[in-house]
Amino acid sequence: MLAIGSEVTNFAVGDRIAASPHLRSYAERLTVLEKQAAIIPDNVTFVQAAAVALGYQTGYQAVTEELDFQKGQSILVHGGSGSVGFAAIQKAKEIGASQIYATASSKGKTFLQQYDPAIHVFDYHSEDFTQMTDKVDAIVDPIGGQTQEKSLQLLKAQGKLVTTKDLTAKAESAPFDSRAFYLNSGQTLADLLTDISAGSIIVKINQSDKFNLENLKKFHTIFQEGHPLGKLVLEF
Ligand SMILES: NC(=O)c1ccc[n+]([C@@H]2O[C@H](COP(=O)([O-])OP(=O)(O)OC[C@H]3O[C@@H](n4cnc5c(N)ncnc54)[C@H](OP(=O)(O)O)[C@@H]3O)[C@@H](O)[C@H]2O)c1
Repeated sequence: MLAIGSEVTNFAVGDRIAASPHLRSYAERLTVLEKQAAIIPDNVTFVQAAAVALGYQTGYQAVTEELDFQKGQSILVHGGSGSVGFAAIQKAKEIGASQIYATASSKGKTFLQQYDPAIHVFDYHSEDFTQMTDKVDAIVDPIGGQTQEKSLQLLKAQGKLVTTKDLTAKAESAPFDSRAFYLNSGQTLADLLTDISAGSIIVKINQSDKFNLENLKKFHTIFQEGHPLGKLVLEF
């Protein structure tokens, strides 16, 4: 934190903070609202905090706030090895999920099964997740479209679906509590960073490197040529 406004009370100049203002991610300095910011615990690195500020925060928020997920409930998480999905899975596990189902690509499936063999993972290229026999209490959907529509049949009567995509017409008219959300909160990010500090949530970093034009080009090329598992982080 380089400077604060006169009405800011929760932060001080010199604090290590994280925030996700969505735009200007490549700016060296930018202004954020107090409600968007979170203190980074001493044992969490800037690279870890940058890696979780948007996608992980959203998956964490989906489970803790939007779904109000409770111990003993079951959950299906689409895109389970992605940022939103992996955070949702980890938080659901920590809360005490009775069963976790996930969809992922084949490399994501391998990663998730190494993380926790108890997670039932469907490879979305070759397996049909609608074949699962149980219905679930909660669904996290960062994919949308057909995936979202097909998921509705897997919800229990009182189940909830939350998506980072638009709700399909079928989801909007379904007799379930389903909704899309987009807002980020500094408090949720602070809770997530606390869990990372305590070791109950791990951050999957693919690689980090110094911010310069060469590395910027390299990281964008990695994305264009195939989706990497874990975050790519550029450091000032
Ligand atoms: N606050 C918000 O509203 C908010 C915040 C963050 C993200 N988002 C949105 O949420 C979505 C996910 O973000 P993210 O950061 O988690 O992305 P991500 O890290 O790229 O993860 C997406 C994951 O979904 C997998 N996937 C792709 N197609 C799939 C399918 N048909 N079925 C199951 N899994 C599939 C991908 O696997 P492979 O790449 O291995 O195939 C990848 O692991 C994005 O659309 C993003 O814009 C919204």
